Amino acid sequence: MKLNIAVLPGDGIGPEITQQSVKVLNAVADRFEHEFYFEEAVVGAAAIDLLGNPLPDATLELCKKSDAVLFGAIGDPKYDNDPEAKVRPEQGLLKLRKELGLFANIRPVKAYDKLVDRSPLKAEIIKGADMVIFRELTGGIYFGEKSTSEDGRSASDLCTYSVEEIERIAHLAFKAAQLRSKKVTLVDKANVLETSRLWRKTVKEVAKEYKDVELDFLFVDNAAMQMILNPKQFDVILTENMFGDIISDEASVIGGSIGLLESASVGSKVALFEPIHGSYPQAAGKGIANPVASILSAAMLLEHFGLTTEALAVRKAVEMSIALNVCTPDINKDNHYSTAKVGDFLESVISDPEDHDINNDNLKLGQMTII
Ligand code: IPM
Ligand code: MG
Repeated sequence: MKLNIAVLPGDGIGPEITQQSVKVLNAVADRFEHEFYFEEAVVGAAAIDLLGNPLPDATLELCKKSDAVLFGAIGDPKYDNDPEAKVRPEQGLLKLRKELGLFANIRPVKAYDKLVDRSPLKAEIIKGADMVIFRELTGGIYFGEKSTSEDGRSASDLCTYSVEEIERIAHLAFKAAQLRSKKVTLVDKANVLETSRLWRKTVKEVAKEYKDVELDFLFVDNAAMQMILNPKQFDVILTENMFGDIISDEASVIGGSIGLLESASVGSKVALFEPIHGSYPQAAGKGIANPVASILSAAMLLEHFGLTTEALAVRKAVEMSIALNVCTPDINKDNHYSTAKVGDFLESVISDPEDHDINNDNLKLGQMTII
């Protein structure tokens, strides 16, 4: 298969993790005889510094003409601590999501058996947890009208949703549930918010087309608690933009590290693949950032194009790296590998899987001789 992939490394650790994903995708292309072409463009704070615009026209044009976008991370503390800033890096990502019509953000969360003891949550609570969050991505309070009064003493962010916006993501969530454990949980705040009541009404209607899928409802405050009390109850979570943002960060604790959580954003046109974590500016350039979330997002890219064997090769390589403790310090504190070394390891496992059979001595050592 021939794919043109736009690479938007962005800010902070974005460039170093994205580089590992490109490495891995090149290894996939070599082994499975595909042609992947990568073209880079700036976005976020990096683009503001260079061109004064977090999403330059050339970047948007490149994304629109590509088959897929591989996105790094966005954000810089110099803007976070300046409430007066008129231009912000995040605006680049939000505009890109809107322009590309990426209405559904898909965030799978699972507990890796090998990592359950590393989570701050009890192993018996998280072992076996496996869910996917469908977060609405181009509506709600993120995109409603924003204003600040002239005297600067009040501000407003409007939250609106239409039936169409809810229906299209609901269908995706139900279809995904049909291929999984056949349960959708709608997370909302229908006891308070009008938009949430519209979500409930609309999703109940959509559910009638998926009789084999159980539909369940949770208020977001309760869902936040259930997420860490009993995460195994969830299969597919369907929710609006801001609740999805918050709850998916919370869910990442189940995986053992936010550095493992991948995501895909899909819509009618080109799809975008990005880790759920942020730009982690404190780690930028130090080689300590975990590239796995970005690499697994690249696996989702392969799945998106039906390249399931290829995606499986990437996922297996990641599982092997975790089993062998070839991990960055968020997971392997004592004897860690750098961002690039983890990328090199995954590249070599994908290129030549037979050469990397797990050997118990290596497992004990937490080391691979080839590194
Ligand atoms: C995410 C991020 C973004 C969001 C930020 C960077 C705008 O937190 O993708 O979860 O809030 O959607
Ligand atoms: Mg977020």
